[in-house]
Amino acid sequence: MKRVDDFRLRLGKNELVPIMIGGMGVDISSADLAVAVARLGGVGHISDAMIKTVSDRRYNTKFVKDKLKVYKYNVENEDKSPVKFDLGKLIEATRLHVEAAMSRKTGSGMIFINCMEKLTMNAPKETLKVRMEAAMDAGIEGITLAAGLHLGSFALIENHPRFRDVQLGIIVSSVRALQLFLKKSSRTGRLPDYIVVEGPLAGGHLGFGMDWAQYDLATIVAEVIQFLKNEHLDIPVIPAGGIFTGSDATAFLESGAAAVQVATRFTVSEECGLPTDVKQEYFKASEDDIEVNQISPTGYPMRMIKSSPGIGDGIRPNCEAYGYLLDANGKCAYVTSYNREVAAHPGVRKISVMDKTCLCTHMRNFDIWTCGHLTYRLKDTTRRLEDGSYQLLTAEHIFKDYQFSTEQKIALPE
Ligand SMILES: Cc1cc2nc3c(=O)[nH]c(=O)nc-3n(C[C@H](O)[C@H](O)[C@H](O)COP(=O)(O)O)c2cc1C
Repeated sequence: MKRVDDFRLRLGKNELVPIMIGGMGVDISSADLAVAVARLGGVGHISDAMIKTVSDRRYNTKFVKDKLKVYKYNVENEDKSPVKFDLGKLIEATRLHVEAAMSRKTGSGMIFINCMEKLTMNAPKETLKVRMEAAMDAGIEGITLAAGLHLGSFALIENHPRFRDVQLGIIVSSVRALQLFLKKSSRTGRLPDYIVVEGPLAGGHLGFGMDWAQYDLATIVAEVIQFLKNEHLDIPVIPAGGIFTGSDATAFLESGAAAVQVATRFTVSEECGLPTDVKQEYFKASEDDIEVNQISPTGYPMRMIKSSPGIGDGIRPNCEAYGYLLDANGKCAYVTSYNREVAAHPGVRKISVMDKTCLCTHMRNFDIWTCGHLTYRLKDTTRRLEDGSYQLLTAEHIFKDYQFSTEQKIALPE
């Protein structure tokens, strides 16, 4: 009987255990997690979501305070278009985070960064270019293009000296999205080095509509593999979303996938960036506690635990400090919803906003608990302690369980 360890993923000159831990925004997939996974021979991701905030928390910088100081005059203003990111500071924050992770790397695995296109930052092209180039300058080994079609992203960095040496991957949820990406990127004469196919059971934002339940990862993966075969393209395909056991992973590897991308099981690892009490919420969640909703201002459906404190919260938008979701015109759907509710409830001090959430603030504070569909099975991956809480797991334990387990077994911790 085969297991994940019988397979290897080849990326460039690297031979890897075919397990990639997906990027999880705002420091949930922490450098600690990425370093642990690289040591074990797999691929770990850090994320550049809200990188200045992450830098402040991790490396004692004051980027957020400094930005707020510059734009404080605008806090009461409905028009957020003047609130721009200082690109120099964005470079500095990215370098700090990437260099800190890379300097700690040991082992034969790799560390990549997850770059979401929907983090439009009030100047989508300029900021994305700076984010990717600064990560390459700081020695990142790969960039995974996420949350968006990324039709112009290769072109943005084609003149960077590492454009052809760094591993570049794209996340898609359909053959059509992949076709579009390949067509638009072809001008740069470069193909992606890997393709993550993310199905409807993943955590974070979904590349599907609210009809997500009608789609099935295995079917989309088979379609993508067939498409690449027809086009005579040899690019590793990496399924993601709902791959919960080593056996689930092995089944994909046996049907032509080059590796798997997983995330949910690592949300309850010691190395994961979520606060300890929030990890307990992930353990406790039952299937009914998890929903896909449309409160993300990005316009993509997002999966989360229903009791996330950020849902319905009517906090004043924090764009002057953060502003990561402001589009090219300085607009964010939460700002619009918030202003509508303020106008509808004159004199009310604490309003509620149900249709959208201030995702920057709430992700920053770990108050939106985004999660994969199978989060409700996490409680079966550990032991209950005497005080009723669940035992956290090491990333190594979870990684090795994926790598070596068979017959749908899940190894419990010592
Ligand atoms: C808590 C959490 C946060 C996530 N954040 C991101 C993100 O910032 N960017 C991204 O591309 N994918 C994100 N994802 C998706 C994962 O990278 C991964 O592809 C997917 O969740 C894999 O499925 P699984 O969680 O069922 O293993 C997130 C997933 C989780 C669970």
